[in-house]
Formats: sequence, structure tokens, C-alpha cells
Amino acid sequence: MKYSRIIGTGSYLPDRIVTNAELETWVDTNDAWIVERTGIHARHLAAEGEGTCDMALQAAKRALEMAACSAQDLDLIILATTTPDQIYPSTACLLQSRLDNHGAPAFDVQAVCSGFLYAFSIADKFIKTGAAKRALVVGAETYSRILNWQDRNTCVLFGDGAGAVVLEASDEPGVLSTHIHAEGSFNHLLYVPGTVAQGQIQNGDGFTKMHGQEVFKFAISALSSVVEEALVTNQLDKSKIDWLVPHQANIRIINATAKKLKLPMEKVIVTVTEQGNTSAASVPLALDAGVRDGRIQRGQTLILEAIGGGFTWGAALVKY
Ligand code: ACO
Repeated sequence: MKYSRIIGTGSYLPDRIVTNAELETWVDTNDAWIVERTGIHARHLAAEGEGTCDMALQAAKRALEMAACSAQDLDLIILATTTPDQIYPSTACLLQSRLDNHGAPAFDVQAVCSGFLYAFSIADKFIKTGAAKRALVVGAETYSRILNWQDRNTCVLFGDGAGAVVLEASDEPGVLSTHIHAEGSFNHLLYVPGTVAQGQIQNGDGFTKMHGQEVFKFAISALSSVVEEALVTNQLDKSKIDWLVPHQANIRIINATAKKLKLPMEKVIVTVTEQGNTSAASVPLALDAGVRDGRIQRGQTLILEAIGGGFTWGAALVKY
């Protein structure tokens, strides 16, 4: 088996939709500013008591159903999240229990908004080396719980949700290559400072802090370079890309990557407008949207990319 191949996708968004107009009543912001700077019109927020595992479970069930695969057939479960339900066990283990899977390795990956690309890359390598045959890869976030809803610099940007894929070993392509990177010296530009110790949050608070302009500049250059790296590795011309499935942080960052690839926006899956930035869930949510509405077809070539706190970033070139 030379490749891992996507055999199912699924996603879940909480029912509650918060529009920019509603946000205007919470914090000093306005619809025109948010739309012009980010492209975001609305985001979904988890209900009280609804957690990351709850959303992951719904996305996973939908991906398994599309894959016509039972949870008991999974031999690897990786869940990317920045907002685990508990310090431990991992949300992947909580999900495994609710899926009634027994014995498969299950673990979380923490790479903030690049988490899904990291998890996807790890699962691909497990499958390519023969260590796993069928893997569930999930990105799930209750990002709303690490936002200060009085901080207009951050709270307008994010939302909650989950996305999942099932990967299976295959002789047919498949995931062509994955590329992940980190530059920890930028840890001060996008972070949540708090640490839990002695039963309390220490060293600051549990809310997201961001230097937006620095993140913006780094994102554009890192995403351009990692997309180029994926193309060069596969000796593939950018004209062969059918779909860009980008991390959904900001429409201006997405536009810049599409421009670099010379892809018209009709060839880009965009969900940021209605979902905001769902961190590790954003790429699999976008992928599932494109698959389920029929835009993404079997045999097409996709490029997935993301950037997040760390900084971390990554891309995957995929024959769907
Ligand atoms: N509503 C109204 N005004 C606002 C808001 C808001 N929500 N937020 C900031 N402003 C004001 C600022 O106070 C500032 O006012 P001033 O000029 O009077 O001081 C003005 O708008 C401009 O602020 P900037 O920060 O310079 O705005 P910018 O054009 O850089 O846009 C933004 C900000 C949208 C955050 C942009 O920098 C961006 O998208 N950065 C990347 C963010 C990102 O992608 N983060 C996620 C990474 S993934 C992860 O790992 C979580």
C-alpha cells in the first residue's frame, strides 16, 4: 500500500449563529469593519454544556458513515484541538470511548490552527509505513471558551465546530505529500498565557492574545512558501490544482494564497464568511463542505494549507 486515501469526510457546526450585528451589541465593533478586514459575516458558537468531544463525535460519525466504515474498524484516532474538554484524558480518548472503539492508539495534537494538517500528516505517515490501515483524523474546537468577549481585536474572528476525515491504506493515490513546520520563536505573537496549577489558572489568564498585523504578514509568506514546497516536491505545476482548501482565518489571507497559485476564487473553498476561524476544525470543515455540495470530485487535485499559533504551518497535496 503506497498511499493513504480520503474515504469519508464529515463536519458539525453548533446550531447557534452569532451575526456581526449581534456582536455589535456585545462589544465596540461594527459589521462594516469586520467584513472589510476579515470577510466574516457570522460564526457558530457551542451551546452551554456542548464541548469539543460532542462536536467531534458528530463530525466523526458523519465521516464514518460516508466511508461506510465502522468505528471498530479504525486502528488510529488523532484529534487536533487547542480546546480539549479536560486537561486529561485527551479528547481523542474521550471520543474513542463514545465511538465504542477499543484498543486503537488515540491521541490529541496541539498545533492550534495548523492542528488538522499536523494530525493529517501524522496519520498519513502511519498508513504509508504500514503502522495503520484506517485512521480517523478530527479537528474540533470550542474556541469561543478561550476568547475574551470584551476584546474586539480577537473575539470577532473565531467560531466553534468540528471536521473529520477517514483515511485508508490504498494502492491508488491518495495523499501525495504533507509538509509541516514550526517556528517557536514567534510564540509571543499569538498565544493563551495561562497555565493550570494548584487548581487555578496561573501566569495570566485563559484568553487568546494576538498581534494581528504580525500574524497577518507571517501567514501570507509562510502559506505561499509551504504551498510552493508541496508543488515542487511533487513536480506539479500550479495549473494542475483543482481546489484550494485553505485555513479559514481571513478572506484577505485566502485571497493572497489563491493569487500566488493563480487560482480564481471560484476554485477556492471559502467558509470563513459564515463560520469565522474555527482553528483546527477549519480545514476539514471546508473540505467537507466542498465534498458534500459536489464541487470536489474524485480524481481532482487539492491543496490543503493552514497556519496557527506557534507559529505552526503546513500543507498537504491530495488526489481526492
Ligand atoms: N471592530 C472595530 N474596530 C476594530 C476592531 C473591531 N473588531 N478590532 C480592531 N479595531 C480597530 C483597532 O483598534 C484599530 O483602531 P485605531 O487605528 O484607532 O488604533 C483599527 O481597527 C485597525 O486595527 P488593526 O489591528 O491595524 O487592523 P488590521 O487591518 O491589521 O486588521 C486583523 C486586524 C483583522 C486582526 C488582521 O490583522 C488579521 O486578520 N490578522 C491575522 C489574524 C489571524 O489570522 N489570526 C488567526 C491565526 S490562526 C490561529 O492560530 C488562532
